[in-house]
Amino acid sequence: MTQTTQQTPPYIPADTMEVLLSHEQIHKRIAEIGAQITKDYAGESIVLVGVLKGAAIFLSDLARQIKVDATFDFVAVSSYGKGTRSSGAVKLIKDLDNSIEGKNIIIVEDILDTGLTLNFLRKLMLQHHPKTMRIATFLDKPSRRIQQIEADYVCFSIPNHFVIGYGMDYAERYRNVDDVRLMPEDPHA
Ligand code: IMP
Repeated sequence: MTQTTQQTPPYIPADTMEVLLSHEQIHKRIAEIGAQITKDYAGESIVLVGVLKGAAIFLSDLARQIKVDATFDFVAVSSYGKGTRSSGAVKLIKDLDNSIEGKNIIIVEDILDTGLTLNFLRKLMLQHHPKTMRIATFLDKPSRRIQQIEADYVCFSIPNHFVIGYGMDYAERYRNVDDVRLMPEDPHA
């Protein structure tokens, strides 16, 4: 039997990395986006569809700023290899738990980068015939787009730099970091 061994990169403490977005900036902006969604969906119900694992923290904070009838569902996709992000293949590894047919859904994503993941999810969700579908992303890196797609709600547009924290990982680490920081070595490079 053959076994594959995965090399774990050395741990770089997050507090040695430069802060791109502080906790305060993040929470102020999420309150604004939550208020906008509350206004846009007044009198309606929505399903927030979080993309695991990266969007879990954003969804949890955003949802608490939305004051209309809301439920959660989650999907998970595997994109790229471990650590590096280059293959471009996107695969669904966890489907929705409940039907979204006839519902207002908002796909909640951590970061819109090349656009491959959200394009894949958008097409998949449309096959389930929601009443309306929008996209909310915490971060947007428009300069890295390979497939044309825009989010309806964007908390921050950032330059082309690999970031960690606030749900976003490098090799599964740093999701618990309470602000957004710049990785000193860009895994995209
Ligand atoms: P896309 O399919 O290239 O748009 O990539 C979306 C996914 O790539 C995100 O949901 C993240 O999981 C991951 N990703 C892209 N850029 C970064 C980054 O700077 N830090 C952490 N994850 C990233």
